[in-house]
Amino acid sequence: MNYRRLGKTNFDVSEIGYGAWGIGGKQWLGGTDDESLVALRRAIELGLNFIDTALAYGDGHSEKLVGRVVREAGHRIFVATKVPPKNGVWPAQPGVGIHQVFPYDYIMHSAEQSLRNLGLDAIDILQLHVWNAEWVDREEWRKAFEELKRSGKVLSVGVSLSEHDPDSGLGVVRTGLVDAVQVIYNIFDQLPEKQLLPLCLKENVGVLARVPLDEGGLSGHLDENTKFAPGDFRGFYFRGDRKKQVVEHVSALRRDLGEGIDLPEVALGFCLSHTAISTVIPGMRTKRHAESNIAVSDLGPLPSETLAILKRHSWDRNFYN
Ligand SMILES: NC(=O)c1ccc[n+]([C@@H]2O[C@H](COP(=O)([O-])OP(=O)(O)OC[C@H]3O[C@@H](n4cnc5c(N)ncnc54)[C@H](OP(=O)(O)O)[C@@H]3O)[C@@H](O)[C@H]2O)c1
Repeated sequence: MNYRRLGKTNFDVSEIGYGAWGIGGKQWLGGTDDESLVALRRAIELGLNFIDTALAYGDGHSEKLVGRVVREAGHRIFVATKVPPKNGVWPAQPGVGIHQVFPYDYIMHSAEQSLRNLGLDAIDILQLHVWNAEWVDREEWRKAFEELKRSGKVLSVGVSLSEHDPDSGLGVVRTGLVDAVQVIYNIFDQLPEKQLLPLCLKENVGVLARVPLDEGGLSGHLDENTKFAPGDFRGFYFRGDRKKQVVEHVSALRRDLGEGIDLPEVALGFCLSHTAISTVIPGMRTKRHAESNIAVSDLGPLPSETLAILKRHSWDRNFYN
């Protein structure tokens, strides 16, 4: 496992981090806590030291599992978690004021709840789970982040940007008040390369690359007959003819890359090939996936010819709508 310095912090984070949405047990169905704990522990054993969770992931369930493995690890594991929007609306909506979504007291209270769930003394990165560029000058988030950092309960702060809208983070990165941003960055969504990633490099702000496998679209396992349990988020994300669209895009990608490619390996390698990325955080509830994903760090950046091919496969769409 290789490590990268996360922005201006003193955190050396593993290139492969752990996306802990799926282990929350409510929006992603089909896994078990035992399986998740095995995957998490194996990932840590293999050198992973960064986990991204959120209070909203199973109403604290993901945080509780994460806290358990971090406490038992016996060495430094960095934990990022998130303050859910008070109005329960993802993503942030234009025109909806921060007083409805992240009032100061609410942010403070949410951080305390996350600390209790995690069973830790401090949160390494506290992120706002949604972000609206209209809030950049508001004092609610600025004051809460400043106070939480001063108290030592939060060591660094960030925001998680709206789906397929990386430029909504440009203003907040320029304030110098956030240590990290979290953004969708994968073979299909390469938008962050235009402005956000160069700006983060210039301002020395860390970047957490989320959804690197397109919620499974780039896992290599999705086909037109894939079924999800009722209530599983992916049933919504891949609804209608979307599975067919994904299969067509993935087939074109495989044709261009040639036989024998390992799609998740290329998808994670794509993210790590950009120097602005601090860590890429695939969801991986199984030991097998944790092992194969972690192995990607040792492969180094993808060859420029492969990156040139991948450039042609960006795909402008929003399946979260
Ligand atoms: N608004 C936000 O802030 C936000 C939104 C979405 C996600 N996130 C964060 O980003 C993380 C990653 O996104 P995600 O989990 O939604 O989606 P993802 O990482 O794009 O995809 C996860 C899916 O890929 C599968 N997978 C993982 N490794 C694989 C491999 N080597 N081969 C085949 N399949 C593999 C997983 O299977 P198994 O799980 O069954 O192993 C799971 O079904 C989340 O966990 C969360 O921490 C944040």
